[in-house]
This record gives sequence, structure tokens and C-alpha cells, in this order.
Amino acid sequence: MTDELLALARLASERAWSPYSGVKVGAVVVGAEGRRYTGCNVESASFGLTQCAERNALGAAIAGGEKPGSISVLLVYANGFASLSPCGACRQVMSELMAEDAVIMACSDEQPPRTWQIGELFPEPFNLK
Ligand code: THU
Repeated sequence: MTDELLALARLASERAWSPYSGVKVGAVVVGAEGRRYTGCNVESASFGLTQCAERNALGAAIAGGEKPGSISVLLVYANGFASLSPCGACRQVMSELMAEDAVIMACSDEQPPRTWQIGELFPEPFNLK
């Protein structure tokens, strides 16, 4: 499965819109019944409006009908990183939308895949409960 997810995330990364940083990131998430949803980073000239690949993939999953808690895996890919890991804002959103035992993988051509459980990556999320 990892090879297939990696291929999807790599393809998504090729579609990144990142004229300011030049960094191309792709992500894929796995929802209920194994459905896949992809996202890439989309930058803005108003830099703070930039959207990360991970959150765009999660947004695509929600728009596709996935319910919070049904997303079991997220794989993010960006070439050129020796130590790739998701940003803090994405971790917060992952913790809200992914399953409690969800797995996050980070891949680049420069490192072996890194794997975390969401609770390890973001142990104490903000919540409104
Ligand atoms: N980026 C992501 O897409 N995901 C991350 O986890 C970190 C950063 C993007 C945002 C921006 O377009 C570029 O990478 C450089 O920060």
C-alpha cells in the first residue's frame, strides 16, 4: 500500500503551486473503504494564506464525504528534505479529522519513510470540549 500512496502523493506534489518557496509537497489520505484523496500545497502572494498539502488532502476527503474519525492514514511527500515532518497547523487539523489511531508517514527521496501515530505527533490538541 505504501508504494501506491507514495506514487499518488508524488503525483500531487508535481501539481503544487509554489512560486514563492519552490517547495513542492503532495499528500494523500485514506478514508473509509480505502478511498484515497490527494492535496498539494497552494501558495499565495499574501504568504500567510498559503495552504499546505496535508490540509488540502484532508479538506478533499471531507468534501468527498468522509466523516471526522474515518481517515486512517496520511502520507506526505516532498523531495529534497532529509527530515520531513508535517507543520504544527496541519498536526492540529489531523488530530481533529483523523482516527485516534491514525498513522502519518513522511517520505522524500533523501530519507527512509518516517512513521508516527497522530497522538505521538500532536499529543495535546486544542479542542472545544
Ligand atoms: N508545506 C506543506 O505543504 N506542508 C507542510 O507540512 C509544511 C510546509 C508547504 C507550505 C509552503 O508552500 C511550502 O511548503 C514551504 O513552506
